[in-house]
Amino acid sequence: MRIFEEDNGQMLIGGISAEELAERFGTPLFVTDEFALRLNYRRISQAFSQHMPIRVHYACKANTNLAVLRVLEQEGSCIDAVSIGEVDTCLRVGFTPDRILYTGVNVSDEELEAVVDRGVMINIDSFHELRRLAAISTGDKVSFRVTPNVGSGHHDKVVTGKKASKFGIPLEEIMDAYREAVNLDLVPVGVHAHIGSGGQSVEPFIEVTEVLIGVANRVEEELGITLEFIDIGGGIGIPYHPDEQEMDVEQLGAILTRMVLEDSNVGTFALEPGRYIVADTTVLLSRVVDIKETGGKAYIGVDAGFNNLIRPAMYDSYHHVVIVNRYGAEPEAEYDVAGPVCESGDILAKGRMLPEAQNGDLIAVLDAGAYGSTMSSQYNSRPRCAEVLVIDGQADLIRERETLEDVLRNQRVPERLMQ
Ligand SMILES: Cc1ncc(COP(=O)(O)O)c(C=O)c1O
Repeated sequence: MRIFEEDNGQMLIGGISAEELAERFGTPLFVTDEFALRLNYRRISQAFSQHMPIRVHYACKANTNLAVLRVLEQEGSCIDAVSIGEVDTCLRVGFTPDRILYTGVNVSDEELEAVVDRGVMINIDSFHELRRLAAISTGDKVSFRVTPNVGSGHHDKVVTGKKASKFGIPLEEIMDAYREAVNLDLVPVGVHAHIGSGGQSVEPFIEVTEVLIGVANRVEEELGITLEFIDIGGGIGIPYHPDEQEMDVEQLGAILTRMVLEDSNVGTFALEPGRYIVADTTVLLSRVVDIKETGGKAYIGVDAGFNNLIRPAMYDSYHHVVIVNRYGAEPEAEYDVAGPVCESGDILAKGRMLPEAQNGDLIAVLDAGAYGSTMSSQYNSRPRCAEVLVIDGQADLIRERETLEDVLRNQRVPERLMQ
């Protein structure tokens, strides 16, 4: 959870008052701090790169805004893409195909062909995918996603690495996959696993690295192939709650790279952080439009809901909320912060002690940069909101607010129904 600068009780982001941004661009509004984005990338990258050659594949599913991707392209990041849409988005902002690793699940032939066509390496998820890929193209470098039987994450829905998960090739069968790839004239160069998203402890990362080293060593012993990289996936959590501790990424980098250096001949360490890089760079600004007391409960009604940020409704996730025009003021009352979506689950924050709220106040939902905008929807026919990038007192619009026309654009009413 980030602490923001404050000026006369007003919260500042990138040197600009949040209120000024809300007035200029409207609400709801995602505001991303470019400086924080660059800092997060450098921090995670240096934590590992000081020990051995690395590749940071930013998991762009967390936030695919073109400007965010441009910043990370400039920083030298690589990409973890999970769809052809993500691949093409990243190519559009300047990532070259060799900087992208495609890790799909349940991938169609059409999508496989398209990814091959772009020259992007595929991280194979199943035997069936392997055979379908070989039928499309041979001679290509590939890696495999193994199910490591190690899972971690902030919610069951985002734990991916446990036995019988829908992702990856079972550990017991992974050597058969490498053998078959060689027989099919593909060139295995890597091994990958992703244990889940938003984990807060180091141990599962140690366990998964052990598993991947084990696979790499068996590939070398049994097939005579020294893999180029071990990819531990993403999943590094951030402290959303004031009581949570930040994961020590310097320590994580030191431990995991030492394991690879000491116990394998693999030359490159790859990781796929999404949340770690973007989550705390962004706040969701939302205007207080109603205040209600009912059945002994007080609600602050705001103009952002789970159509903008679904994490609280989907995963019961905690996002810290502040009233930006009374930033730093003492809490006075307990509120639920509720949005405009017509479902009782549309609560952004439950039971929060805040300064007394008034109509017209502005709130900020913190740490909304990962799986915020990318998971937003037009539910209730609400156009998606705008996004702004701020740095050094400058604010640039990086996504225009949608209109109802955007919501309706692809819908058609058959002529016969118009009579
Ligand atoms: C294959 C893969 N890599 C990386 C990530 C990024 O995870 P996180 O944002 O928790 O770092 C995900 C998230 O689901 C993923 O599926």
